[in-house]
Amino acid sequence: MRVTCTVNGTTRTADGVRAGESLLYLLRERLGLPGTKNACEQGECGSCTVFLDGVLACACLVAAGQASGREVVTVEGLTSAGEPDPVQAAFVTADAVQCGFCTPGLVVAVHDLLARRKDPSDAEIREALAGNLCRCTGYEKILDAVRLAAQRREVTR
Ligand code: FES
Ligand code: FES
Repeated sequence: MRVTCTVNGTTRTADGVRAGESLLYLLRERLGLPGTKNACEQGECGSCTVFLDGVLACACLVAAGQASGREVVTVEGLTSAGEPDPVQAAFVTADAVQCGFCTPGLVVAVHDLLARRKDPSDAEIREALAGNLCRCTGYEKILDAVRLAAQRREVTR
């Protein structure tokens, strides 16, 4: 089947999409967007988190055909002119990245959180990121990164 959707502001079309194919596969293997990570492929880890029509979704749980006519934003779409966006930069500054496999999904989820709560409490950060698993960092530096991103966004507003 043919799937056409908007990805990071651009209309993209893929042909030959199989009925059971996931949006994650479509993004990574057909559209050349490897930023969205494939870790568990069963909705458990959050590594594949994207925005689908502005709402967080695990791309591994969405059929590619379901994205037809809809708007997808991946971590690649959150950069500004190829430079790290403030959330990505905060992860680097706070040393919140080790293997980096969880990081794109976390960055997308943090964007969602900070769009809703400009100064989230630690409890709100933990709640918002509960679906994003990290096997490396122990989470404390991720919390530091979110606090830093919130501060920087406040300064640049
Ligand atoms: S790869 Fe989708 S939730 Fe883990
Ligand atoms: S940095 Fe390795 S899984 Fe999070």
